[in-house]
Amino acid sequence: MLQSGSASGASSSGSLISSQGSQQLGRQTHLPTTLLYHQRWASHSSQGSLSKPVTCKLAGLRAFAATPSPTGEGGAGSAKNEVHSSHLAVFVSGGGSNFKSIHAACQRGQIKGEVALVVSNVPTCGGVLYAQDHDIPTLIYPASKKKSVEGMTADELLSALKHQFEVDFILLAGYLRLIPPEIVRAYNCRILNIHPALLPAFGGKGFYGMRVHEAVVASGARFSGPTVHFVDEEFDRGPILAQRAVPVYPSDTPGDVQARVLRQEHIVYPECVAALCDGRVSWRDDGVPILWDGGKQV
Ligand code: GRF
Repeated sequence: MLQSGSASGASSSGSLISSQGSQQLGRQTHLPTTLLYHQRWASHSSQGSLSKPVTCKLAGLRAFAATPSPTGEGGAGSAKNEVHSSHLAVFVSGGGSNFKSIHAACQRGQIKGEVALVVSNVPTCGGVLYAQDHDIPTLIYPASKKKSVEGMTADELLSALKHQFEVDFILLAGYLRLIPPEIVRAYNCRILNIHPALLPAFGGKGFYGMRVHEAVVASGARFSGPTVHFVDEEFDRGPILAQRAVPVYPSDTPGDVQARVLRQEHIVYPECVAALCDGRVSWRDDGVPILWDGGKQV
């Protein structure tokens, strides 16, 4: 089920682990993520840059509030050499342009993380091919009897995410399947999605691809734009982390809107992932996430 050509071993569940993937697991610590968060907070808090930890309201995962100083110094992302490089799993079903923008942001250091794994339900999609070209391991989930696609079970996928690839954050980038509840629970407040419209409008089951932009144009809405949000068990419903508005002109075709929105997607998604990896996301008491940048809420 692992698609990378560098596969070299088999787990007890039968899914393969690539040698390349194993090398990427070469971290110095193998602590539970919650403990890593504690360590991160402890080291940063000694510099007086963070407020006390707050609880992610979705289900009690402890996230840590980056409260930068008024000058913009400090904050979780600013402590040098102390933020570990996060392991990211990107889920794709299509061309993967958002995946590519995240990968590029990791490579230029904007995101303190690396794409450790790509997951897809479409073994031949552009995102998977790009991953294979860049020696990034790929897993297929879910299986599709209709299309004769062999894939993992949800339990196997969760085990691979947690134990084989030690994934910190899951990033949905044009992935057209629901994330199974056990993975949503295990990665509570650590899964992001990008949607090509301003949620909560034009979202939910059936709103994907060009259908979203067709609905926007048909509605007469004068603005659209990407929404980055945390993922729960429903399509396009979790807490909103960031949005960017672009104009929609009366003469626009759905394709015009798609292109304008996509340009912003490639900017805002890496910014959100960078904030997540830096610990620059805090949670308001009512469960609304806040992204911090340069000492400001954005
Ligand atoms: C993007 O428009 C994204 O907002 C949506 O699916 C599309 C994926 O495009 N969730 P790409 O595969 O990243 O190019």
